[in-house]
Amino acid sequence: MSAASFDLLTTVEYGGCSAKLAPGRLAEVLKELSQPAHPDLLVDITTHDDAGVYRLNDETALIQTVDFFPPVCGDPRTFGRIAAANALSDVYAMGGRVLTAMNIVGFPATRIPLEVLAEILAGGQEKVLEAGGLMVGGHTIDDWPPKYGLAVTGIVHPQRVIANAGLRPGLALILTKPLGTGTLVAGQRTGLAADADYRIALETMQQLNRAGAEIMQACDVKAGTDITGFGLLGHAMQMADASKVTLRIQASRVPLLAGAHALAEAGCLPGAMFRNLDYVEKKVRFAAGLDYSLKMQLLDPQTSGGLFFGIAPERVPAALARLRDAGYASAALVGETVPRAGHSIEVLR
Ligand code: CO
Ligand code: CO
Repeated sequence: MSAASFDLLTTVEYGGCSAKLAPGRLAEVLKELSQPAHPDLLVDITTHDDAGVYRLNDETALIQTVDFFPPVCGDPRTFGRIAAANALSDVYAMGGRVLTAMNIVGFPATRIPLEVLAEILAGGQEKVLEAGGLMVGGHTIDDWPPKYGLAVTGIVHPQRVIANAGLRPGLALILTKPLGTGTLVAGQRTGLAADADYRIALETMQQLNRAGAEIMQACDVKAGTDITGFGLLGHAMQMADASKVTLRIQASRVPLLAGAHALAEAGCLPGAMFRNLDYVEKKVRFAAGLDYSLKMQLLDPQTSGGLFFGIAPERVPAALARLRDAGYASAALVGETVPRAGHSIEVLR
């Protein structure tokens, strides 16, 4: 069997960020762990941020993050690109730039041809180079199903860290990529997704958030994240709670991948959506009469999703124009921040 004909999706039940542990269960474990505060640890795990940030000096802070998961698509090269774009994204979500990356690989060398591994690694390398970074090493173990990802190191000016906790009332909320990758991947597996729609989903997942991060910095953004396994509402809730504000999200404005809503209508609802609903349910108020399939898209587990950030309202038109120029065709204004009022998030129709 050659690398070109090997279908990685035959190895997994849940791929990509859908394979994350349930967020509520993870929180139970993490709350048992604590360490003393340190003045140079600018961002730690308490705010559920995308990466840790450590100040080296007044000019430079180190960003460190790691992400890996089982295959999210059949083609090894594409899987490598998506897993790398997803891991690199956590540096961008903090407003940083990428310096170096290391491969993390689980691969069953006796069950899958090694050419498949070579293709996965080549896809990852492509994205690290596109990010302006260097690959400096890695670690491989024998494992089934295969897993791939990166540990990434980046830098940011200590005063320019974009974190979950930086929102204040009166900001506009922008999302840079459409939602629905979890639904499209599930739809592809069940044969319900249209080929053209699935291909666009793969393109979206391979797209770096690099330009988006540069635009956030140019627009003086203080708070942002990237949307991955916990869905838009899961990550938005983490920002709302860390910042002690309420987010008002207008569901009809949220960009969706073509085919995602129709697949949801047809009953294609990845299990991780319900896990995410369970995670946010007590802290989100959904508008009466909100379309069910649309609501579930707001909980769709994204793999290598877009950036989501708060921005001064007067900067929105310029930011959206720049994002669209940079290739984020679906970038949209999706809501606003208001003073904390009961719920973390209000979802309007
Ligand atoms: Co993230
Ligand atoms: Co992550």
